[in-house]
Amino acid sequence: MAAAVGDSRQVRPAPPHYRAGMGISREERPGLAGLFADMAASCARLEAPTYALLSQHVADSVNDPGPLADLLDPYAEAAVGDMLPLRFLGAIHRLALERRAPELALFFASMGGTPPTSERARAHFVRAFEDVVAHQGGQIAAALEWFPQTNEVGRTEGLFTVLRRIQHSFGLPVRLHEIGTSAGLSLRVDELVHRGIVSDAQPTWGDLPSIIERVGVDLELVDINSDNGRLHLTSFIWPDHVQRFERLRGALAVAQQIPADLSSADAVEHVRSLRLQPGTTLVLWHSAMWMYLAPEQRAEIVELLAALGDQATAEAPLVHVALEPIDTVHRHVFRLQVATWPALPDTDLPPGLDVLWGTAPPSGTPVDWAVPCAGAIAHDDAGRLLVVRRGQEPAKGTWSIPGGRVEPGESWAQAAIRELHEETGLHGEITGFAGLIERAAPEGATYVIADYRLRAAGEPRAADDADDAQWVDRQELSSLTTSPGLVEALRGWDALPT
Ligand SMILES: C[S@@+](CC[C@H](N)C(=O)[O-])C[C@H]1O[C@@H](n2cnc3c(N)ncnc32)[C@H](O)[C@@H]1O
Repeated sequence: MAAAVGDSRQVRPAPPHYRAGMGISREERPGLAGLFADMAASCARLEAPTYALLSQHVADSVNDPGPLADLLDPYAEAAVGDMLPLRFLGAIHRLALERRAPELALFFASMGGTPPTSERARAHFVRAFEDVVAHQGGQIAAALEWFPQTNEVGRTEGLFTVLRRIQHSFGLPVRLHEIGTSAGLSLRVDELVHRGIVSDAQPTWGDLPSIIERVGVDLELVDINSDNGRLHLTSFIWPDHVQRFERLRGALAVAQQIPADLSSADAVEHVRSLRLQPGTTLVLWHSAMWMYLAPEQRAEIVELLAALGDQATAEAPLVHVALEPIDTVHRHVFRLQVATWPALPDTDLPPGLDVLWGTAPPSGTPVDWAVPCAGAIAHDDAGRLLVVRRGQEPAKGTWSIPGGRVEPGESWAQAAIRELHEETGLHGEITGFAGLIERAAPEGATYVIADYRLRAAGEPRAADDADDAQWVDRQELSSLTTSPGLVEALRGWDALPT
């Protein structure tokens, strides 16, 4: 069994799953100056000017003889995956949090200080830093052994809102399980929202869920009941990010009052042990941990959930909620994705389908909610496809299938039938679900479009968002300028006209 962070153990090597995480370029060894220069750029981009300044100073001076060079020399060959700059900055922050570096704390917003903005203040800050390095090298060297770990409760903003919708649809108490739970703070999502630590993003989405079970597993559990565990989490929040710091402080207080069942275990093992219980909704949740799993582990979790989902009923539903980076390249955009077994009764989507509900920055807040839309793939008895020319953006002037936003109170399939009628005057009958696609919407949002197959007949009359409508066979379709991705999607679903 893995030891929990917060044990008296001092030296802690990087766990192998961290090294494997996130994929690209982790084994590159650009040298200390290169590592810290990259860190400075990331900090500047992520609105952390104090860390940007420190990182740039280290990058510029680490090759000059002196205490800093001596301290970091053992790490000269560190790989990107060793996250040395994060460890180093965390070690410095930790000293300030332990009240061992008051001159530095003057500049750390997390400690009530003011980030240096003038030349004079910057010079004072750098001198204070050098002084700490010169006199507390032993402490820093020891803290450098700690590997970065956070528990970002802002990420529960999306989870809580999803729980509201689940409560509205299934009306059952929730058993909340989390893999990669870190310190288990997110398992207290309801209380985090009640106390205003995390914002209640969509209070009109339904009643509050009742959470009757909170279970979390992690390979490197953080024990927040120990001073060291709490310090460990706080030291890795960047001092400029005061809101994150405040959220963590609030969450630590909540977690000490609301129990959760936490254990050191592997994510796959835990998912294998999951069982449904009649009269409850089982919710499996994870955030910022999927990238640490090997492809085989991810595939196994997906398979295990699908098998469990096959046994799920409206009296014992299963829900999988994930907030994870889009991919290893777009690490700064997270997808809030939800699959339910059975399907939410008011959607008409198939069970177990991963649906994008929104996107968020790495801190999880604010969530940019996806815009649900429906499309009508209508064929007549001759196998022709009904297409409309779009009179509105996006893709104005191109040919597409009838479709548009799902209205409040409407299912996705009902929206497809309504849009078909509004844009062509024809009545259609749903014959099946074709698939989901995502398209960029204005202002960074995303349209999530559920396309349904319908049977329809008659002469179309263009109206509403369409300025022309016609039945086309495959050859006629190929001569039209169609909206981006339409033909590929139809081909993928075997829904092209004959
Ligand atoms: C970046 S942290 C995210 C923690 C938390 N979910 C959050 O969003 O704040 C990733 C966590 O996943 C854990 N982890 C990585 N691989 C794991 C595995 N195979 N099983 C369980 N936990 C794992 C790590 O130990 C770490 O605590």
